[in-house]
Amino acid sequence: MAEELVRAAYQDDDIAQRYDRARFTSLRGRLGSDRDTRLVIRAIDDAHRGAPASILDVACGSGRITAALVDRYPSCHIVGFDGSLQMLETAAAKPALRSRPFVHGDAVALPFDRGSFEVVTAVRFVGHLAPEPCLRLFAEMARVARSLVVVDVSMASPLVDLRRRLERRIKGSYLGFDTEWTWRTFTPEELSDALGAAGLELVSMRRKLAGWSDARVVAVKV
Ligand SMILES: C[S@@+](CC[C@H](N)C(=O)[O-])C[C@H]1O[C@@H](n2cnc3c(N)ncnc32)[C@H](O)[C@@H]1O
Repeated sequence: MAEELVRAAYQDDDIAQRYDRARFTSLRGRLGSDRDTRLVIRAIDDAHRGAPASILDVACGSGRITAALVDRYPSCHIVGFDGSLQMLETAAAKPALRSRPFVHGDAVALPFDRGSFEVVTAVRFVGHLAPEPCLRLFAEMARVARSLVVVDVSMASPLVDLRRRLERRIKGSYLGFDTEWTWRTFTPEELSDALGAAGLELVSMRRKLAGWSDARVVAVKV
């Protein structure tokens, strides 16, 4: 199954160590990363008066978003969760995250009780999942969150699909992985159906960057 290939692909020291450098050190990468964190924090700030009490960052990877959340909400209980021990080691080594808790496991079967966290986030992860595991992820995030779920998704767009095909052809791989899987995009109906199936109600949807990227940060109420 594609999601197992994805999870396995990240269980690799080299991929984990190169993750931030390969994606977020170029100007485009830094701008994209800043936009991710700004929009996730804005979605949380808009929905909460003051800092949330707790946040679970699902598929936290190298802790890029987790660290930004810790910086913004220093007294909040923030837990990073990922399916790759190698990615979690990279995250835990970040100075901002050294004393923070991390949990290892499968995002489509979260090992937490209902309503364990006020907010649950997942950034640059939903696109990795095929439709069925994506439904399970949304249902799990809705179960574990008390008030808000924030994810980013890529909307279907001929221009972006063309860009991805060209990048894959030029680089000979997808996001540095030599693998069959790619990145899922949603039509508006598919997104609405998937959120609705998990009982999630749309609060806001903000575009990351017009044109070249068709990714949105979506906040949904539980
Ligand atoms: C593209 S990275 C995103 C990391 C981070 N959220 C960010 O925005 O930089 C995707 C992450 O999903 C994790 N992952 C893949 N499949 C998973 C699964 N089934 N359960 C938990 N984590 C998974 C990978 O280990 C990887 O760290």
